[in-house]
Amino acid sequence: MAEFRGDDYLLGTDATEEARLGFQHQVWAAKTCELWDEAGFGLGQTLLDLGAGPGFASRDLAYLVGPRGRVLAVDGSARYLASLSRMRDALGLTQIETKLGDLHELELEPASLDGAFARWVLCFLADPERVVANVARALKPGGRFVVLDYYRYGEMALAPHSAAMDRVARAVEESWRRAGGSLDVGGRVAELCGRHGIECGPPRGGPRAARPGSALWQWPRLFFKGYLPKLVELGLITPADATEFERDFDQRERDPHAFFLTPPVWGFVGTKRK
Ligand SMILES: C[S@@+](CC[C@H](N)C(=O)[O-])C[C@H]1O[C@@H](n2cnc3c(N)ncnc32)[C@H](O)[C@@H]1O
Repeated sequence: MAEFRGDDYLLGTDATEEARLGFQHQVWAAKTCELWDEAGFGLGQTLLDLGAGPGFASRDLAYLVGPRGRVLAVDGSARYLASLSRMRDALGLTQIETKLGDLHELELEPASLDGAFARWVLCFLADPERVVANVARALKPGGRFVVLDYYRYGEMALAPHSAAMDRVARAVEESWRRAGGSLDVGGRVAELCGRHGIECGPPRGGPRAARPGSALWQWPRLFFKGYLPKLVELGLITPADATEFERDFDQRERDPHAFFLTPPVWGFVGTKRK
């Protein structure tokens, strides 16, 4: 198993990345809420937020479960959990509890959870099945597991087409593999859950089309601002690839007929068998 690196994980946990996660949460909040609704997340429940990061989703879940509920936010980053605790205290959301640690080693009370949530987390894990098995044990019978993650990340595209984007997308996939994760994990979620007694409904979502100027268009722009230099540093693209990619994105941004097809993000709602 790849070594767990806490604050030094693939995307890092500095202030810029934390702000990006906040924006990303905003862009994906509506889709996420649809899945929480489908799962019946609500008042008084005990929910687990796996890989909670600075806790943008934990905060929303805390409002959903209310003061008599409980949200257990687990992450490997001490920095993110410190931010989360500051936010919790500022908002008086005492129903949020934080736990620092590697998700692979997480110890959970059997049959203690009404629900669990993992968004853009399984893709980082060397052994997602171990974590899914753990969640399955911790869910009460009928408990729900909501997952959002990538499958076939490389299908993201600009229209009109950009060859530089194809090269960059492949490089991103390779960077994840090298770090021990997989941007194809979304294709395995239902199978992994099924093996451990969680039945998933039909996958929701997939690629979304973003028009220049929209928040969804800004989402990849913000990610690649930070990640292109990293891909160059890793030797997965050349500086010329990065320049071509930026130039293509800038050109499409000025083209009112252009669009960006997001990497496919798939949502799953699983139910623990009774
Ligand atoms: C892309 S962020 C997503 C944060 C949050 N789930 C969201 O949707 O906004 C991935 C998070 O997973 C955490 N993470 C990655 N691998 C982990 C591991 N093995 N154990 C604990 N946390 C991990 C990182 O620290 C980071 O906070």
